[in-house]
Amino acid sequence: MTPEKIVERLRAAGCVFAEDEARLLVDSAPSAARLDEMVAERVRGVPLEHVLGWAEFCGLRVAVAPGVFVPRHRTELLVRLAAAEITGPAVLVDLACGSGAIAAAVADRVDGLDVYAADIEPAAVAVAKRNLAPYGGRVYPGDLFAPLPGELRGRVDVLVANVPYVPSGAVELLPPEAREHEPLRALDGGADGLDVLRRVAAQAPVWLRPGGTLFSEIGVDQVEAARAALTGAGLTPTVVADEDLDATVVVGRR
Ligand SMILES: C[S@@+](CC[C@H](N)C(=O)[O-])C[C@H]1O[C@@H](n2cnc3c(N)ncnc32)[C@H](O)[C@@H]1O
Repeated sequence: MTPEKIVERLRAAGCVFAEDEARLLVDSAPSAARLDEMVAERVRGVPLEHVLGWAEFCGLRVAVAPGVFVPRHRTELLVRLAAAEITGPAVLVDLACGSGAIAAAVADRVDGLDVYAADIEPAAVAVAKRNLAPYGGRVYPGDLFAPLPGELRGRVDVLVANVPYVPSGAVELLPPEAREHEPLRALDGGADGLDVLRRVAAQAPVWLRPGGTLFSEIGVDQVEAARAALTGAGLTPTVVADEDLDATVVVGRR
């Protein structure tokens, strides 16, 4: 298929950045036959990153796969804050790691990290293992903290947990690419969106060292409830927002 034809098909399917996407597809396709398949997948609404097999995140090319949450540009704020917190050798845990994009981006910015990650979705764990291998990261399948090695208790310097935070009732308002191609468990945070964050906050003091810090992304209308969740768990909360990135992060210090 010619690049012009690809642009035409992508545009007809509603892709806003048809020229850019066509270029990425042409550059990534290993063969003409695979290029045709990739264009067809994209026309069917499969997220571009799932078609390509990678996502651009914080200047890195992060592997993703079908059924794995695509890291969002706004999460760069969480990466920036977590990286700024680390001043020497440190233990970093990425809970609900998805592709492991956050841990990879922090480890790419800061040397000397001991990196651990976990996710409940086997597909995410498989991809995170690939993304974190260059940093010596260990990735575990399971529910929140449950699969982590016990010896990390009380030793974690930085805990990043970009858990699902969309209220259940708002999931249907997400773009179809997210709703139809990312697991519900990656998006749905319960009635007010903070069910998983509350579970993380409740257990965080057990795993953080004194002075250690939890970083979680939240929605702008969840600030007060998230503060209350962290305070209730015995953490000292602060909130950082970045309007350009449309991002809000709640930080909890033990
Ligand atoms: C919003 S995605 C974020 C993924 C990744 N942290 C990122 O920023 O790209 C939420 C992730 O939480 C995982 N998850 C949801 N519930 C979980 C649980 N109880 N234990 C572990 N992981 C969970 C999902 O599988 C998904 O990968």
